[in-house]
Parts: sequence; C-alpha cells; structure tokens
Amino acid sequence: MKKNLKPLEEDVSSSDKLKALVQSEILLQGPISFSRYMQLALYHPNYGYYQVKKNIFGSDGDFVTSPNISTMFAETFLNDFKVIFASSSKNILELGAGNGAFCQSVMQLFDEKGVDIDQYYIIESSPTLVKSCQQRLKENLSSAAYSKINWLKSLPSSFKGVVFMNEFFDALPVDIFVKKDDKLFEKCVSIKNDKFIWVLSEMKGNQYFENLPIHTFPADYTFEFSNLYKYWVDTLKKTLQQGAIYIVDYGFHAKELFHPDRSAGTLMCYLNHQSHSDPLINIGQQDISCHVNFSLLKNLFGNDVQIEGFVSQANYLINANILDILKSYNPKDVVNYSKKTAELNMLISPAEMGDLIKVMSVSKEVDIQLHGFSKNDRSFLL
Ligand SMILES: C[S@@+](CC[C@H](N)C(=O)[O-])C[C@H]1O[C@@H](n2cnc3c(N)ncnc32)[C@H](O)[C@@H]1O
Repeated sequence: MKKNLKPLEEDVSSSDKLKALVQSEILLQGPISFSRYMQLALYHPNYGYYQVKKNIFGSDGDFVTSPNISTMFAETFLNDFKVIFASSSKNILELGAGNGAFCQSVMQLFDEKGVDIDQYYIIESSPTLVKSCQQRLKENLSSAAYSKINWLKSLPSSFKGVVFMNEFFDALPVDIFVKKDDKLFEKCVSIKNDKFIWVLSEMKGNQYFENLPIHTFPADYTFEFSNLYKYWVDTLKKTLQQGAIYIVDYGFHAKELFHPDRSAGTLMCYLNHQSHSDPLINIGQQDISCHVNFSLLKNLFGNDVQIEGFVSQANYLINANILDILKSYNPKDVVNYSKKTAELNMLISPAEMGDLIKVMSVSKEVDIQLHGFSKNDRSFLL
C-alpha cells in the first residue's frame, strides 16, 4: 500500500483541537518559541503526538526504533549489563521506554538465561504509552519478571545499576536558531491565514548556548539547541551513585554535527514512515526529532563521570558480538534465518541505522571494560 503524508481521518479532529489551542496561545502572547510548539505538538496531555497516536513504532506506524526491529538489539547489550551489574547493583532504569520493546526483550532474555535482576524502573511521560507498555509486559513476561517492573514519574534521588535511553534525547523539545550576517535570530512560531509560520526574533547575546562554536558557523546557518540536555544530565549525575548510563541516539560529535553541509539543521518529522522537514504541518500527528550533540552531552557530564566509549551503533553491536547472536539461529530454518538477517542488516547497515545512531556510555564509581567499545572508540572526538 502506498504511504502518504496525510494523517488518518480520525486523527484530524484531535490535530484540529491542538492547532486551535496553540493558535490561541499565540494570539494571547505573540509568537512562541519552537521548543514550546514542539512540547505541545509531541507531549500535550490530551492531544500531543505521543499521547494520541496509535502504533507509533510499528510497521503500520510512523517510524521504527532499534528495540522494535529486533530482540537481537537488546540481547547484544546483555553481556555489558552483566559487567556493570558485577561492579554495581542489578538494576536497570530506562528513560522514555515507549512501548516497552527493550524492557520486554531484556527481561525475557535474562529470564531464559537465569540471570536474576533486582528491579527494572521505567520513566515514560506518555500515559497512553505507559498503559500499553504495562499491558504488553503483563502479557509477555513471567509473573516473577513482571513483578520487578516499576513505573516512576521522575528520576529517583539515588540509583545504582544501568541507566538506558534509546532515542530519548532526540525527542526532547529544541529551540531553533539561525545565524544571518553575524547576527543570531531565534526561529519562533506564529500564525497567518490560519497556518503556522516561522518568524525571526533577534537574540540578545549567545551566553545561552553552553559554548557552542557559533562563531565558526557560516552565514545563513540554522541549528537547534535544547536547554533540556542540561536539566537531564544534571539530574542523571545526581541520581547515579554507581553504575553506567547508556545514551543511544541519532547524532554526531559537535564537529560533524555543525558541518557547513548541515546548514539547514537536523530537525525531521516522521509520518507513515516518510520523513520531511516541516514541523508546522500535521500538528500532533507526526513525530518531530532532532540529532543529538554528543559533545555537548559529554561536556555537560564533565569530570563527574568516566567516559566508557562513543561508537556507532554498528560498531557497538558488532563489538558486543551481535554476529554470534545471529549464528545461534538455525540457517536451515530459512524463513526465520532470513528474517533475522534482515533485522541485523537494518541495525548495522550504514544505509539504515548503523552509522547515524551512536552509542555513548559514561560510568561512575565502577572499574569496568565494556565489550561494545572494545574497537573503534571515537570518544576522543567528543
Ligand atoms: C522516540 S521515542 C523512543 C521510545 C523507545 N525508547 C524506543 O526506542 O522505542 C521517545 C520516547 O521518550 C518519551 N519521552 C519524551 N520525553 C520524556 C520525558 N521527559 N520523560 C519520560 N519520557 C519521555 C516519549 O514519550 C517516547 O516514548
């Protein structure tokens, strides 16, 4: 079936309501920042994308994520999780767990392999996703495994174990800026003839940007920045007493991210598995995401943590032996083996998710060697 860029009939009324709500906010107070627009578009409690959209992550949804492509993704992390557990506690905390695919695979595989974990904590901001995730985990996990899952509203004051995030930072609301004639402008959202439009507002100074190399950007250069990075990194640093944090996301180190070729920024929208760069249409009906600046994350973590590594997803999965996991499937079972080979290809091929997605890990109070960073570690570039 041919996919198109139009939302379904039934979704239009929810989108219209969100549009009216955002328009009234603009009429009341003037143009709003893009981060405010993105916050409402993705996370409005009644009409936001992650609240109303069904089957976001499936083949009949808008996009797929690695844990939804294959259980081999989660399986590849298990040996490194065991390394961390041995020096810390056997807990996992997952931020932005979506439909729970990663949690399901990890808990099922640990169950099968007889690895006992203490608790699996999930922080997910969409009540709709929490509900469907709870149902999925209840249906698919043993009652012993399910009893270890805990839903939290915010990060606990202290935590020991593994913190895991897949495509969490790329979904955080960003502000958008453009450099024109050595002046910086913020791209804000206004309305005209019942449509959302961009308007530029001149910035007073650039102290806001945590040392981004703005002076090196060419003219007419657009870039995104989220001050939520600092909030999350500061909170994670306070929370983690001992263990490691994994950040898996679409992104680059700063030099690659702020390359002149990327002068239009990295913001992308996803609807029916098609991507485009206009977030001002289909409000509440399409995903909006932005590539992650891993250098900024590293700088924000500072010396409070140890960098364990920064590699492409392909390198992480290969270093951590995903090819051996594939070998555990029987090639004589042609149908299943071809399916697994296709899944592996999506995860590691440079044309798919292998290169664009990066894996970074930082640790605290543990002395560990993680398999996933044993070769091609690029953390010196951060
Ligand atoms: C791109 S999805 C990734 C979902 C899942 N990790 C995966 O890989 O399939 C981003 C997820 O982060 C969640 N999220 C965004 N902001 C959040 C926040 N402040 N707290 C908790 N979850 C959040 C969204 O609701 C969504 O489920």
